[in-house]
Amino acid sequence: MEVITRPSAKHAVDLVARLLADRIRAKPDAVLGLATGRTMERIYEQLAGSDVSFKRCRSFNLDEYIGLLPEDVHSYRHYMHTHLFSKVDIVAANTHVPDGSASNLKEAAERYERLIEESGGIDVQLLGIGEAGHIGFNEPLSSIMSRTRDKSLTPTTRAQNAVMFDGDVDKVPKRALTMGVGTILDARELILLATGSAKAAIIAQAVEGPITSMVSASAIQLHPCCKVIVDEEAATQLRGRDYYDFVFEHEPEWECYRN
Ligand code: GLP
Repeated sequence: MEVITRPSAKHAVDLVARLLADRIRAKPDAVLGLATGRTMERIYEQLAGSDVSFKRCRSFNLDEYIGLLPEDVHSYRHYMHTHLFSKVDIVAANTHVPDGSASNLKEAAERYERLIEESGGIDVQLLGIGEAGHIGFNEPLSSIMSRTRDKSLTPTTRAQNAVMFDGDVDKVPKRALTMGVGTILDARELILLATGSAKAAIIAQAVEGPITSMVSASAIQLHPCCKVIVDEEAATQLRGRDYYDFVFEHEPEWECYRN
């Protein structure tokens, strides 16, 4: 794992957007794992404004609320359409979001896993982190080997996400269909982005704490190719910060990304 701290949220977002654009340029038919949440909005804004072509890409989103139709303004399908899919040249049929409105959720989850497998697997998975330590909607006690399935959301997550539901926590669905931790770990590369002081404590636990199903994001420590990109505010509780900065300053891989 590499942990990179950038001076501001804007610098952190710029770096992640550049990394993703470079991955797509290097492999125009890349299979992208996409994430939602406020942090990601700025990534999609940058990608949509860049010259990178998504024409041959396929995408799989991490999760979707259960009970919301794709056209519901609060659904993640709608979020993706608004922030990215409608703004780039990706082929709609090649974009996938778990079907939270399916009558048979188990079947929908199995189909999602199959589709990922048939696509050849995810090349690069973008991740945010919830204040409850989740990646996707893998709430505490999610097995590190879990696959796509339905999951009940914690009060912390529902409160955190209420802002996307007109600030009304009662409007936030209670369950979601999410890729499992095991599904996420199967991606060839993980890039986790976190900004702001509200994420400082959970980032420190995920990166430096024990690997535990209580903090599903800690499972990224098991991944052989994982980058965590944070701003100063999200980095304040990292104990190994000096070393992480040293690596970023000296590893040849990062040379063209330092400025
Ligand atoms: C939701 C998503 C997560 C995401 C989190 C972060 O809960 N299911 O995948 O990591 O939001 O949200 P934000 O970027 O708004 O802090």
